[in-house]
Amino acid sequence: MKLWGGRFTKEENQLVHNFNESLSFDQKFYEQDIRGSLAHAAMLARQGIISEADGAAMEAGLKGILEDLRSGALTFSSEYEDIHSFVEAALTERIGEAGKRLHTGRSRNDQVALDMKLYCRDEIDQLDGLFLALLQELLKRMEENLETYMPGFTHLQKAQPVTLAHHLGAYFEMFYRDKQRLADIRRRMNLCPLGAGALAGTTYPLDRDYTAKQLGFDGPTLNSMDSVSDRDYVLELLGALSIAAMHLSRFCEEIILWNSNEYRFVELDDAYSTGSSIMPQKKNPDIAELVRGKTGRVYGALVSLLTVMKGIPLAYNKDMQEDKELTFDAIDTMKGCLALFTGMLSAISFNREAMEESAKKGFTNATDAADYLVSRGVPFRDAHGIVGRLVLRCIEKNQALDDLSLEEFKEASPVFEADIYEAISLKSCVEKRVTIGAPGPEAMKQVIEICRERLEKQPQ
Ligand code: ARG
Repeated sequence: MKLWGGRFTKEENQLVHNFNESLSFDQKFYEQDIRGSLAHAAMLARQGIISEADGAAMEAGLKGILEDLRSGALTFSSEYEDIHSFVEAALTERIGEAGKRLHTGRSRNDQVALDMKLYCRDEIDQLDGLFLALLQELLKRMEENLETYMPGFTHLQKAQPVTLAHHLGAYFEMFYRDKQRLADIRRRMNLCPLGAGALAGTTYPLDRDYTAKQLGFDGPTLNSMDSVSDRDYVLELLGALSIAAMHLSRFCEEIILWNSNEYRFVELDDAYSTGSSIMPQKKNPDIAELVRGKTGRVYGALVSLLTVMKGIPLAYNKDMQEDKELTFDAIDTMKGCLALFTGMLSAISFNREAMEESAKKGFTNATDAADYLVSRGVPFRDAHGIVGRLVLRCIEKNQALDDLSLEEFKEASPVFEADIYEAISLKSCVEKRVTIGAPGPEAMKQVIEICRERLEKQPQ
């Protein structure tokens, strides 16, 4: 069944139909399509463009279709080109003539622009909840690990001691920005394209403010050509999801490293790991690897749509139908990744001893030893050299700085006194880092407080 049979003389070739159709994927937003039609029908009746009776019949018919699609009593039939044709045909079948008036003052161009917006907005709200759950889990783990010492790395070399709370706090910041980005996009996109028609508005006295309000928008879009050809919000969403996927991937990479025999910083729950079919000893971090791997799909969607959009003249062109499958896939992928990652994180156990041991072994307190000398009048550059030589000596003897005798310290510089041991203990190295943003537990407590307030101040 075609919406546009009138002008055509030849039957559509099956291959052309298969290539052109979108029902196989745009059926995913049937709820949004019907919601849009309900608002449009109510507005048409309210404006006297159709009769009250037709408006009421449309409302009842559309609600029935919605219910039957939800329950499975009505199924999609592949003879239709897209979700818009399918719903209109189902309506006409149910309510007769009145169904044929639904599309008055509307084009599939503004209709699909609306559906995609409604769909993305609904999905943003769901994604927001998933980010919130992840942030809450992170916050909990941060609170539990204010004094879990571990090495902080640069260049994947042990650098300075931090705490697990601090390390996790870095991811809190990333995911919080991701959540904010979604909120920004939602705010910016929240204008209703319905009423833009094919590209140039319509000659009917539509009340665009009314439909916008009915559908939860802040108002109508202001240029009908832009309304039907704007997919910026989809690109922004894919961009935000790509950044979030990159964050998840980095975290997964660390978990994979930390789960390795060499690190042993974490133990993954059996539920989030798998065995090997040949090597009995293996417990593989498959979920973390998959989340890391799925980043490619999300980036792919962004690059695909950027490419689709780059040469499109105003206004609507069929190329834009390509926005759907890749956006749906990127959103579904990220929803899965976020849910699985949060589950994995909530079931992970951190090996505090291994982390602390590792921090002790890697000369992560060397800067603090130099700072000790500086606080007793030695210029920093000299202090750097003195401690560097001590590190070299320790490497030769396979020791930590803390294992050197006071004589050895004094040999390197007479400024060292017995309090050097206290000054370079992991605990004091971390506790002395008191400025906001640093790993010292007092600073971290303040940050955790702020983070909690951020999550309470929903939506952000
Ligand atoms: N399936 C189309 C899409 O996704 C709907 C809009 C069709 N409009 C048109 N003039 N052919 O973009």
